[in-house]
Amino acid sequence: MSKNQNNLLQADDIQLELRKFVAPEYIFGVDARFLVSNFCKQLGGKKVFLVTDSGLAATPWLSELQDNLLQNSIEYQVFSSVSPNPRDFEVMEGADIYQRSGCNLILALGGGSVMDCAKGIGIVSTNHKSIEKFEGVDKINYPMPPLICIPTTAGTAADLSQFAIINRYDQKYKMAIISKATVPDVALVDPVVLTTMDPFLTACTGMDALSHAFEAYVSNASSAFTDLYALEAIGLINANLQTSIERPTDIQLRGRIMLASLYAGLAFSNASLGCVHSMAHSLGGYLDLPHGECNAILLPHVVGYNFNEATIKYKAIANKLGIDVDGKPLSVLKKQVVDYVARLSKSIGIVSTLGTKGVRPDFVRELSRKAINDPCNATNPRVPTQADLAAIYSEAL
Ligand SMILES: [Fe+2]
Repeated sequence: MSKNQNNLLQADDIQLELRKFVAPEYIFGVDARFLVSNFCKQLGGKKVFLVTDSGLAATPWLSELQDNLLQNSIEYQVFSSVSPNPRDFEVMEGADIYQRSGCNLILALGGGSVMDCAKGIGIVSTNHKSIEKFEGVDKINYPMPPLICIPTTAGTAADLSQFAIINRYDQKYKMAIISKATVPDVALVDPVVLTTMDPFLTACTGMDALSHAFEAYVSNASSAFTDLYALEAIGLINANLQTSIERPTDIQLRGRIMLASLYAGLAFSNASLGCVHSMAHSLGGYLDLPHGECNAILLPHVVGYNFNEATIKYKAIANKLGIDVDGKPLSVLKKQVVDYVARLSKSIGIVSTLGTKGVRPDFVRELSRKAINDPCNATNPRVPTQADLAAIYSEAL
């Protein structure tokens, strides 16, 4: 779609250009995680390569999963050398161990970092090239081994998506690998595991999911399928994120946010993202900052930047957020949506600016130089220049 086509559509028009929709098999609901051994067997798993991280060892979820595998006579090997913003050398180390382990199936238990690292390990183990060779769109020739994901946060949706984000550690940027080959075989999406997330992690991952939904909805590659999921995700997050932080063991609230993450994941996996993510990837790689927090800080600024290029879509978003849109000039509505998103972040404890996170004005040039090459820019409703991205970073300092 051309860059202004979002604005050419009438309010009740749908996108009629050719669109496809890719999703893995997923099971949503309480105790979905206990189906893991069934799916390992169904996918022919003889020995399982269990990718996780050290944080999960402090929760019941890892030991419970190991017990489940053992009770079903499924051998496994654990790989837990995964950092937040997973690094290229961790992927290569994992792939090396995987290839020598005799495993034939990968199981990821963790947040986005764990699942992205697991995808990287799978890609390298069957394609036999260094992970950076797969950067960009559709660069993977051979399918990875069977992959089962059990997400332990509600935001990333790497368990459903066609994305894997890996930190090129020496070069200090996060590369996006986008391909149908990174879609897991099965996602076991269980809200119970969210109950051990702390309030700040819940807030950051929730704002990541909200950013996915916003970006997918206004994306140039959005469709009737993705719009449905994106808008529903925005409504669910708006209505439930703050209360799910206040009542962390309420499984209904956790379930609604997990469902919102799933919906937003289906939307962005198929419609792709925009400048919030291109800029957050650059920040995450350069300063190793939390992905969701970067998104939360950038989202209102990018809404302000994009608004006039997708006004009908942003009106629908405003409506979903409970903002009265009737008869308002666009400039007023724009300010209301921007302010609403900024207030939402603050209300759940995300109070930093880029400046307080350690971003200095002299970093902006390098950050924007890296961000402009990110493939997520391609579907942003307004085509950015490097100077535009630099201006947004400066505004968010
Ligand atoms: Fe994200």
